[in-house]
Amino acid sequence: MNHFLDIHKTDPADLRAMIDQAGQMKQARQGRPKGTADDDQPLKGRMVALIFEKPSTRTRVSFDVGVRQMGGETMLLSGGDMQLGHGETIADTARVLSRYVDLIMIRTFDETVLTEMAEYADVPVINGLTDRTHPCQIMADVMTYEEHRGSIAGRKVVWAGDGNNVCASFLHAAGQFGFDLTFTGPPQLDPEAEFVDFARNMGSTITIERDAARAVQDADLIVADTWVSMHDAQSARERRHNMLRPYQVNAALMAQAKPDALFMHCLPAHREEEVTSEVMDGPNSVIWDEAENRLHAQKAVMRWCLGV
Ligand code: CP
Ligand code: NVA
Repeated sequence: MNHFLDIHKTDPADLRAMIDQAGQMKQARQGRPKGTADDDQPLKGRMVALIFEKPSTRTRVSFDVGVRQMGGETMLLSGGDMQLGHGETIADTARVLSRYVDLIMIRTFDETVLTEMAEYADVPVINGLTDRTHPCQIMADVMTYEEHRGSIAGRKVVWAGDGNNVCASFLHAAGQFGFDLTFTGPPQLDPEAEFVDFARNMGSTITIERDAARAVQDADLIVADTWVSMHDAQSARERRHNMLRPYQVNAALMAQAKPDALFMHCLPAHREEEVTSEVMDGPNSVIWDEAENRLHAQKAVMRWCLGV
């Protein structure tokens, strides 16, 4: 069964094929209203459950629209409204949902909810973000980089800020797509060793550099994310902001990178915190393409999951 649980758990040739197919599907739709169907309808007759235990704008809308463009139907479920949030086990939920739907996408807190769902479901399961990883985001990010600058292999990506779930999936992608990654942030917020080790074992150069200006030298891509993720305690907000302030991506920092370095952010962004509006809205920022490409990349992910 083709579950899409994480980038490091997916064959690199399959990842490459998904990115390429996403590009082709995007091309084929150029200029069409969003609500029109694709020419081919690979999800015709398929029902997709979209489960959210955390808030979402992009993931929710892009999956929903993507399924419909491919001819399928969606069912949006919020964790709190399901029996899942009131004591029914994940395994039982997975078994039941498998009798009704053809594909499950879930955004949740603890990674074990995702893995247990996949273990007990008879249909493919997609990771729509957990506390630890966000693989769909990074598929869109790789696609976006390559759309603007060609192959990401051998490039230098700099992650500035918190070594969080999105950073983890970037490290997985470094290993699978063959690029290098420099993390710049405070030691308390380093990415977990497991993610760094995966990328290094795959042959990528992973560097930890505390000085942000030094970190971005020769960078091809600079990436930021929120300083307080959905799973972080709000009580830690001030402490995290104090630690992370030196890692804000601003025009002065961008000026230290290669002149054509791109800027990405998975969004939602907190303007003037992790990134300034000058950078977000500046000429090197590709954040809107990045957001759009969630749609195209995930359509390819869903086709891969269903083998259609
Ligand atoms: N980037 C991302 O996953 O956004 P949402 O939280 O809005 O889905
Ligand atoms: N790191 C962020 C990403 C949101 C898409 C979070 O988990 O809240």
